Amino acid sequence: MISLPTRSFENLPTPFYYYDEGLLRATLDALNEQVARHPNFIVHYATKANANLRILQIIKEAGLGVDCVSGGEIETALRAGFKADNIVFAGVGKSDWEIKLALESNIFCFNVESLQELEVIEQLCNEMNQQANVCLRVNPNVNAHTHKNITTGLAENKFGIPVDSVWEAIEKIQAMKHVRFIGLHFHIGSQIVNLNDFRELCTSVNSLLELLKQHNIEPEHINVGGGLGIDYDNPTSHPIPDFKAYFDMYAQHLQLNERQKVHFELGRSLVGQCGYLVSRVLYVKQGQSKRFLILDAGMNDLLRPALYHAKHQIVNLSNPSATSEVYDVVGPVCESSDVFSRDVLLPQSHRGDLMAICSAGAYGEAMASQYNCRQLPKSYLSDDFNI
Ligand code: LLP
Repeated sequence: MISLPTRSFENLPTPFYYYDEGLLRATLDALNEQVARHPNFIVHYATKANANLRILQIIKEAGLGVDCVSGGEIETALRAGFKADNIVFAGVGKSDWEIKLALESNIFCFNVESLQELEVIEQLCNEMNQQANVCLRVNPNVNAHTHKNITTGLAENKFGIPVDSVWEAIEKIQAMKHVRFIGLHFHIGSQIVNLNDFRELCTSVNSLLELLKQHNIEPEHINVGGGLGIDYDNPTSHPIPDFKAYFDMYAQHLQLNERQKVHFELGRSLVGQCGYLVSRVLYVKQGQSKRFLILDAGMNDLLRPALYHAKHQIVNLSNPSATSEVYDVVGPVCESSDVFSRDVLLPQSHRGDLMAICSAGAYGEAMASQYNCRQLPKSYLSDDFNI
């Protein structure tokens, strides 16, 4: 059973995001407990999953670094109090101003995604009389077996440098004055639930490291990205991902020397389960073949179901134990894809009922838009209700 402070919600305008701070902190504790078992492991929170300032501050307090993919994310991370030397910066299309901002801020490292980007960083460093640490983002051509829109490590994806071009890129860096090669970066995709996919990545990383070793190169930093999935079907039975299995798998399968450090960029697994999108039923409509529960939250508030056919558990907070009916739960946006769930069994619901869409802490608020000139959703933390 999901327990949310429904009473406190009653007078609040909907829709809004609600974050269970206790669960977020428990998740971060569980993560840190496992990271502590591997002294060479470093975790950077992937800002893109949720850039809510208060969430970022809690994550910063837990001692994590941060992974950014835009100048805006770097600015937000710095505002939240992250230290620049804990920032890694990825992205296939870094603009000049973003590179300059990163250089001015003295971030730890650029995860570089093309040979041309290397040249631009070198040129901007030269103009600014700066040095830059660089990890090469490699496209390992490993299948993450997740939704195609969140697969990033296949040859057909725009991300990273092909394995075959890595040596060329390193030689290029060696001829540069301002750029220093410090490691390799990988990220094969998101919402990965089978650890075998990460194991495949380890195999790829190991063979590339072996190849570089033959050239007497042993990079100090190996960044394996993020991607650990969460249980969208049973959020209450699995509120915290199995970090132990995840980290142990990497510890067991990566073949590293004792100086090499492993960096992780976890997003969803840290913030996914602590967030809910809370909404009200506006109308219950009997269509020709379907019964629609029309909410005041729409795809502009939570895009995942429309974009990835993602399934989020939905609960009726006002009438949890009424007899069940089958509904299509939809939003008010003028798009047929504005559907949260089709043919779902829910307690009989009425206009005004409060509904919670679960597991919405990652890529929910962060991807909200003002489509249809709707307002961006507000957000609350449990702390706002003294919980
Ligand atoms: N590192 C890089 C380079 C990434 O591109 C991503 C996610 C992460 C780390 C964090 O991955 P995570 O641990 O959160 O899986 N909007 C989609 C997910 C997009 C993920 C983009 N990159 C969704 O709602 O499922």
